Amino acid sequence: MKRRDFLGYTGMAAMGAAASTALSGCSEDAPVVKFWQEGNFRPVTEEVTETSLKVEGSIPPELSGLYVRNGTNASSGVAEHFFGGDGMMHGVRLEAGEAKWYRNRYVDTPVYRQEAGGMGSPKPENTTSAVSLIYHGGELMSLGEFGYPYLINAEDLSTKGSFNYEGKLTGNMTAHPRIDPITGELLFFGYNVMEPYLTYMRADTNGNMLQVEPIKLTGPSMVHDFAVTENYVVFMEMQVRFSWFSAIAGSGLPFKWDDNAPCRFGVMPRTGTNADIKWFDIPSCFVFHVMNSFEQGDEVVVDAARYDHLWVKNSHDFFHPAHLSRFSMNMKTGKASVDRVYGHPMEFPQVNREYWTRDYRYGYSLAVDEENDGPEKAQQAEGGIRKYDLKSGEVDDWLPGVALEPGEPIFIPAADSSTEDGGYIASYVYDKNTQATAFCLFDATAISSGPIAKVHLPVRVPVGFHGVWVPDSALG
Ligand SMILES: [Fe+2]
Repeated sequence: MKRRDFLGYTGMAAMGAAASTALSGCSEDAPVVKFWQEGNFRPVTEEVTETSLKVEGSIPPELSGLYVRNGTNASSGVAEHFFGGDGMMHGVRLEAGEAKWYRNRYVDTPVYRQEAGGMGSPKPENTTSAVSLIYHGGELMSLGEFGYPYLINAEDLSTKGSFNYEGKLTGNMTAHPRIDPITGELLFFGYNVMEPYLTYMRADTNGNMLQVEPIKLTGPSMVHDFAVTENYVVFMEMQVRFSWFSAIAGSGLPFKWDDNAPCRFGVMPRTGTNADIKWFDIPSCFVFHVMNSFEQGDEVVVDAARYDHLWVKNSHDFFHPAHLSRFSMNMKTGKASVDRVYGHPMEFPQVNREYWTRDYRYGYSLAVDEENDGPEKAQQAEGGIRKYDLKSGEVDDWLPGVALEPGEPIFIPAADSSTEDGGYIASYVYDKNTQATAFCLFDATAISSGPIAKVHLPVRVPVGFHGVWVPDSALG
């Protein structure tokens, strides 16, 4: 993908063009080794459908539905940034204890078809749609952070087309919306490099837009995720900002760490407006992902993967460990506090989504190898899957050794469970020795025991981002 095209898909082409004359001649250091073209970061070359899948162990017969995960997969073979490839979904269909199929499919966008690009006004349809998936309002949606969502057929992972809430979604949509498990409402936002820098939105359980609210930030920040509680939403304005210099001179994304930018969390009633936001100054940090959030007395609590800093050099710089940290905003005193929850690094936090927005006990994440953190050390890294008991402070780690590389752990509730951790963890686990991937299921009450079922795939599933479990009961 050409750099100019990538800026276009992220809605930044116009600004980049305007600045190019002034900043021509400047350059930033591109990494010598492009980690996203090596090991299990590199893209796969084919779309595959496989219906004869070897299963080791046993898949719980109660599980019928689709696990599907999104990620970048440059159809050209080369992208200018780890985040810059085309969206590709990898799905496994389970039926009553059997793995019926594995499929990988591109999200069929104008970018993938190479029908987009140029320096005109960026269109919201022109997104790579490569970050996550969510099921809401009777639709499986692929989300790319920039641009519109794309609707996906759960039956075969084919793309139906883009979706904009009957024209009410005016631009970008985050890849990290939240569903209120009680009301079924979808709460989300989009951010932009031009004002309004952030727009907050809500849709009802049927996918009808209820509210579109412009939010004032002090400048164009990268806002990957946000937090939702029973009564509030929390916007995170942090120090990775749109950079004119990077837009023109860099080799990656036009965002960079800015020491002079504020770091603050804004707490707003879910039905409120910009005027209702209480901003809390937070010690300098960056957050990609929130684990969960809830209210406790006068406090709004956000548990998240906290980085000390990010992208100080440029947007290829991923060498910073994140730690699970608790941000507490006191709505009465106006004071905020931050506490590290656990001493070892992690990323891709998840919970039982029936507990989204409410007080909870159990979280799940990738366990990150402290000695070999960062994608360029992936070959020697020993990662794993971790479960946190946030009430007792205990953790339960599955650490399979250097050969096995798990991805984001997604919680699947058991059919008859009345307990928060009664269910399963699903993850793609890549084997560096065989260069093949298995879809693995774990008992969520015994993570360190290892997988209870491994569905061996005939192919490699590259390192990717976020997935979802869609049970047949939701599909109707
Ligand atoms: Fe994410």
